[in-house]
Amino acid sequence: MASLPAAWRDLPSRGVNVTQPLAIHGGSAAVPASAHVRWPVLQAEDRQAVLGVLDRGILSGQFAPEVRGLEREFAAFAGAKHCVAVNSGTAALHIALAAAGVGPGDEVLVPAFTFVATALAVMHQGAVPVFVDVEPRTFGMDPALLEAAVTPRTKAVVPVHLHGVPCQLQPIADFAARHGLLLIEDAAQAHGARYRDRTVGTIGAAGCFSLQSSKSLACGEGGLLITDDNALYRRALQARMFGEDSRPEDEAGYDLTHPLDGNRAYDSASLGWNYRITEMSAALARSQLRRLAGWNENALGNAELLSRRLRELPGVTPPEVPRDCVPAFHKYRVQLDARALGLQAPPSAVRDAMVRALRAEGCEVVLWQTRPVPGQTLFQKLEAQRAARTVQGERPVSYALSQYPETTRILERSLCLFSQTYPIAPQPRALVEAYAEAFARVWLRLGEVLGPAKAAGG
Ligand SMILES: Cc1ncc(COP(=O)(O)O)c(C=O)c1O
Repeated sequence: MASLPAAWRDLPSRGVNVTQPLAIHGGSAAVPASAHVRWPVLQAEDRQAVLGVLDRGILSGQFAPEVRGLEREFAAFAGAKHCVAVNSGTAALHIALAAAGVGPGDEVLVPAFTFVATALAVMHQGAVPVFVDVEPRTFGMDPALLEAAVTPRTKAVVPVHLHGVPCQLQPIADFAARHGLLLIEDAAQAHGARYRDRTVGTIGAAGCFSLQSSKSLACGEGGLLITDDNALYRRALQARMFGEDSRPEDEAGYDLTHPLDGNRAYDSASLGWNYRITEMSAALARSQLRRLAGWNENALGNAELLSRRLRELPGVTPPEVPRDCVPAFHKYRVQLDARALGLQAPPSAVRDAMVRALRAEGCEVVLWQTRPVPGQTLFQKLEAQRAARTVQGERPVSYALSQYPETTRILERSLCLFSQTYPIAPQPRALVEAYAEAFARVWLRLGEVLGPAKAAGG
């Protein structure tokens, strides 16, 4: 066993037996499963909010009370002028791009480390996602790589605040301004995170959020777009609802006794979709929004505690929080380097061994993704077609994986402590302490977990 770093020397006095067998080798688990708090946390007021919708009998509508309430309250929460509620985070991104005028043939810069929806939303507009590798501090798009990715076809840039940690927005915004590109923030995982003195999502022309069950603001399925731009807002409303222009008199004419009638011109002015959110989802999201700041605060406290402890371990890099940011931790990703323990095993073998051993100790651990988004089959099929094409003068976008070394490196050597079902935000401090101890115990005995052949790099 590697010798204990100073911060961990009191483990035995805290009742943690560092020499007892690891759970993976028959010892007892360090973390009791029953200590976890399951997400989303649903309380009496959430039930009341949803039942209130059923009692009212209005289930949907662009001007329905819960939808408009959610839009007003989230706009106020984020400090934005307008909010459009939709039925998924992907829909929010799609209408943002549609409203911003992104169209067929345009290129849009997105990070290689994200959820696939960031790129799919671009493709829904017939535009081409161009993946940019990320930087290891925030896991956000690397501003230093943007100039090389821009072409005369580039129309927009969509940075992602991955895991709730704000990416390097200022240099990305400066780059966008220099090239006259639209900046749309994918804040699907970062409700309430702050970059300098602003809430993320309010810095670009539009910010997009997901309300899917695993997110910090969860109502099942749903999404939110925020913007200060009146024209973009109006086009986003159109895109949400069949391309119909939403006139002020339409809202003024909304009548709670005739919610399915009201003033509506039935005149589609542009291509649109039906991306409306339901009243039950909106009511649940409103109810959850009242507790969001509290969860974010608890997530931050948990992350700070865990990071303080893990930072003491050789070869362990907890998530880094840039000084001018307040993250809203949605996931907690730890990077591992077993060379600091004198072990030569391949990074993915170390990662997988840690996952197995930590799960045996009772910890929730997920990888979430194992390859850069352009490595997914959809993009690799496009890459194969590109390689087969010989049209002169064309420069189709390449999805060759060699372009994303940092994303690949991060994914090979990292894991997320906690999971979607049991995320970091609602967990009690005592459980986080137990995670820190389980992690230390396993990490400091990694050689045993790997076995002699693997530990030697075999
Ligand atoms: C970064 C990111 N962008 C977009 C989305 C899409 O949101 P939704 O699942 O609500 O469509 C997600 C959801 O997982 C996400 O994590």
